[in-house]
Amino acid sequence: MHVYDIIMKKRNGKALSKEEISYLVDGFTKGEIPDYQMAAFLMAVYFQGMNPEETTKLTMAMADSGERLDLSGIKGIKVDKHSTGGVGDKTSLIIGPILASLGVPVAKMSGRGLGHTGGTIDKLESIKGFQTALPERQFMEQVNRIGLAIVGQTANLAPADKKIYALRDVTATVDNVSLIAASIMSKKLAAGADAIVLDVKTGSGAFMKTLEEARGLAKTMVAIGTMAGRDTTAVITDMNEPLGNAVGNILEVEEAVECLKGRGERRLMEVSETLAAYMLIAAGKAAAIDEAKAMVTESISSGKAFDKFKEFVKAQGGDTGELESGNFERAGLSETVYGRDLQEKPFDNAYLVSCDNQEIGMASLVLGGGRQTKEDVIDLTVGIRLYKHLGDEIKPEEPVAALFANDEGRLREAKARFVKACTLSDNKDFHNQIVYEVITKEDLSGSEK
Ligand code: URA
Repeated sequence: MHVYDIIMKKRNGKALSKEEISYLVDGFTKGEIPDYQMAAFLMAVYFQGMNPEETTKLTMAMADSGERLDLSGIKGIKVDKHSTGGVGDKTSLIIGPILASLGVPVAKMSGRGLGHTGGTIDKLESIKGFQTALPERQFMEQVNRIGLAIVGQTANLAPADKKIYALRDVTATVDNVSLIAASIMSKKLAAGADAIVLDVKTGSGAFMKTLEEARGLAKTMVAIGTMAGRDTTAVITDMNEPLGNAVGNILEVEEAVECLKGRGERRLMEVSETLAAYMLIAAGKAAAIDEAKAMVTESISSGKAFDKFKEFVKAQGGDTGELESGNFERAGLSETVYGRDLQEKPFDNAYLVSCDNQEIGMASLVLGGGRQTKEDVIDLTVGIRLYKHLGDEIKPEEPVAALFANDEGRLREAKARFVKACTLSDNKDFHNQIVYEVITKEDLSGSEK
C-alpha cells in the first residue's frame, strides 16, 4: 500500500477502505508517514468529504491508536459528556457534581482550550492546588469513593487524534464534519463510558456556524456512538454569544460556583440542566426529561451539588477556601465597556442584536486567557465578565462588560476587539434560542445508520 495512492484516491472523491484508513492512521501515529502527506490527505478530506462508513472507520482507527480506558472497575452506568467547543462553556464544572450527587459516576477526561475556545482542564487548574493529572488507580478509586474525577487526557488516549488535531489546527482543516466527529468520538470511545451525551454548539463562536451543519455533525456522532454500542444523545445548543456571564478560567470557576449555589445565569442553567437531564436518563436514573430536570433542580436547591463540588476539588488537592468565600483572585487591571462604546451614532436606548462570538473568544485570548499554540502558557486570572446578553436593552451609560488583565496593552487590544464584535440596533423583537434540538438514534435516517 502507498500513501500517495490513498491521498490521490481521496483527492479524486473516492471512498477509502478500512485497510487504507488504518494504514494511514497507524503510519502517521508511529511517525512513519510525514506531516506533509497527512496534511495533503486532510485537505483532500476537507474538500471531498467522507461517507458515514469511512468516518466510522477513521474514528475506530483513531480510537485504537492507543490504550482504551477500562472503566469496568467503577460501579454503575458511566456517562460521559463532550462539548464541540465554545466560549464561556463551563457546563462540565456544573454537571459533574450534579450527577455525582445523584449517584451517577462521572469519570471524565477533558481537554485544554485551543484558539478562541476554552477547556475544562485549564478552568480547573485556576483553582489553587488543583491536580489534573492523577494515576489511573487513584482516578478510579476517587470515582468509586466520591462519584467524580476529572483529569486531563493521558498521552496514550487516542494519540492519533492528538497528532492529527495539531496538524488540522495549523492547516485550516478543523471545521470538517467527518474530521470533528472522528476526533471527538475516538476520544470518547477510548475513554470507556457506557453512554455519551454530546453538546453540539452552533453559531458564531462554534466550529459549526449553522444549525444545519450542527445537525449533520450531531447525526454523524450519534451514528458512530450507536454503531460502537454506546447509548449516544446529542443536544444542539447556541453559541452565538458566550454561555453565561463569564469568559476566562478563574472567572468561569467563579460562575460555576454561583450556578451550584442556585444563582446561575438563565441560558447557562438551561444548557447545563438539559445536558445533565439527558445524562441522568442515559444512566437509568430517570425515565423522562421533566423528571430528570426536577432531580437536577433538587440537587442544586438542597446544596448537595455544591457540597459535591467542594468534595471533588478537595479530593484533587484544590483549595476550597475561595469556593466558600466567593472571593476569587482576578487579574489586577480592569476596564469597563459601556453602551456608548459600542456605537458611534448617539442613542438613548438600543438592543444588543449580534455579537461575533469567535471575536469575544479572541478578546479573551488577547487578555492572556487562551493559547494560540499548544505550548503557550496562559494567565488563569484574566477574562471577561458580561453584564448584557443578546436581546437586552442597552443604554449609553450602562456597563456592558468588564475586562480583566495583567497588562495595559493587552487590555486595550482586547477592549477594541470586544467593541467591534458587538452590534446594536433598534430592533427590540430579537429572540435568541438556547437549546435547538435533541438528536438520538431514532432520528437517524437509513443512510446515517
Ligand atoms: N473538539 C475536538 O475534540 N475535536 C475537534 O475536531 C473539534 C472540537
